[in-house]
Amino acid sequence: MKKLFLKTYGCQMNVYDSGRMAELLAGVGYAPASTAEDADMVIVNTCHIREKASEKMYSELGRLRRLKERKAQNGQAMLIAVAGCVAQAEGEEIIRRQSAVDMVVGPQSYHRLPEMIAQIARGVGYTLETDFPAQEKFDSLPQERSASGPAAFLTVQEGCDRFCTFCVVPYTRGAEFSRPPERIVAEARRLVEKGVREITLLGQNVNAYRASAVSGEFWTLARLLHALAGIEGIARLRYTTSHPRDMSDDLIAAHRELDCLMPYLHLPVQSGSNPVLAAMNRQHTRENYLELVSRVRDARPDIALSSDFIVGFPGETDADFAATLGLVRQVGYAQAFSFKYSARPGTPAAASAKQIPDAVKSERLGVLQALLSEQQASFNASCGNRIVPVLFEKRGFKPGQAIGRSPWLQPVHVENAVHLVGTLEHVRIAEVLPHSLRGELATVECSRPRVTH
Ligand code: SAH
Ligand code: SF4
Ligand code: F3S
Repeated sequence: MKKLFLKTYGCQMNVYDSGRMAELLAGVGYAPASTAEDADMVIVNTCHIREKASEKMYSELGRLRRLKERKAQNGQAMLIAVAGCVAQAEGEEIIRRQSAVDMVVGPQSYHRLPEMIAQIARGVGYTLETDFPAQEKFDSLPQERSASGPAAFLTVQEGCDRFCTFCVVPYTRGAEFSRPPERIVAEARRLVEKGVREITLLGQNVNAYRASAVSGEFWTLARLLHALAGIEGIARLRYTTSHPRDMSDDLIAAHRELDCLMPYLHLPVQSGSNPVLAAMNRQHTRENYLELVSRVRDARPDIALSSDFIVGFPGETDADFAATLGLVRQVGYAQAFSFKYSARPGTPAAASAKQIPDAVKSERLGVLQALLSEQQASFNASCGNRIVPVLFEKRGFKPGQAIGRSPWLQPVHVENAVHLVGTLEHVRIAEVLPHSLRGELATVECSRPRVTH
């Protein structure tokens, strides 16, 4: 059997895609390798979201080229494929910059990999696939799903039609496309058969999910969540990432109605300033967002919120940045990601004459991250001594230790619990550490009543 090594950058959708590529290539004789040295084929699944992400790819490719040359000296062949969003955005340019690359395959065409490998074997120099046939991809992938633990990702929606002026996603992933609900439910069932208890539904704009069922009925994300909640064996559901404009009433209600829908919502706001939000083409205001947050909290009072922020967007003034800090204080986040604006080729904001100096971006990022860390620490501290349900996902570093997640995605580690991996248990949070929580198995039930659906 041949061996495949996958190196994944970027968002959870890339993690899902890497899993599907591994399943697909297992069908044509590739077993997983744990290092590139051991592999006959290496796939680098790339991210284009910020400049640093793309640069990382080229340095990785440089390392792989040297490895390929060393292997060739020993008479061994190694194929190098570049997949993901840089593949889509740069296409043939990648092969021009790094001739050791054999295949370039975009996120919507990786189902063609077996064909591409066969072409290379027939002596074609290199192959390139960067079409956008989303439906065809899902139809061509193997039905069988593998699971590496009790928590799994499931892509339900791809692409984005929002065109925020800073973002490459609408160009790298294409137009919004929602998978048929029957296929998603079937995939979820197969995951549950493999021992999965928690499913995170993925989409670049997941709450814009809209699809017609075979029956002709129209399904929203809320409808899909209700259907999945009905599958026996599913204990937890999550979804990510959501756009504030697509947070519909039925989805907010689902947070009240479904106990298995975890009380955690990643709802990126990017900025707290209306002029910046308008320049970003976010199609919502600070006030819309705050109102949304309060409706979500009314529906599910224990919900924890998370967000993404960009500092130093072209034209962002000190007052704009202060408005972002004000919004953060008003909302109170349990967790958040924040980034310096990175000008991406081809996006409208990159052409703006009002670019902000890097030193200003760095300073603002430092201030924002200090505030967000403080909020995260205080959220974590509020969990101290509480009894919370934890889904144990894997072994810890210490013998006997198991690591799981709370409903709010916090990592929780517990001693003498390794036999519980794959199960959901009640845990008392005994200690709040900087990056995780230490728990002890509890014998009493969690205080929150179960809601039936
Ligand atoms: N679909 C998601 C975002 C995916 S990209 C959403 O709409 O929320 C993840 C995050 O990367 C974005 O939320 C944004 O904060 C950040 N990001 C995107 N483009 C960026 C850029 N050009 N510079 C810096 N950060 C960026
Ligand atoms: Fe990018 Fe905006 Fe679409 Fe999110 S909603 S993927 S930030 S264009
Ligand atoms: Fe990156 Fe593409 Fe995801 S650009 S964030 S891997 S959609």
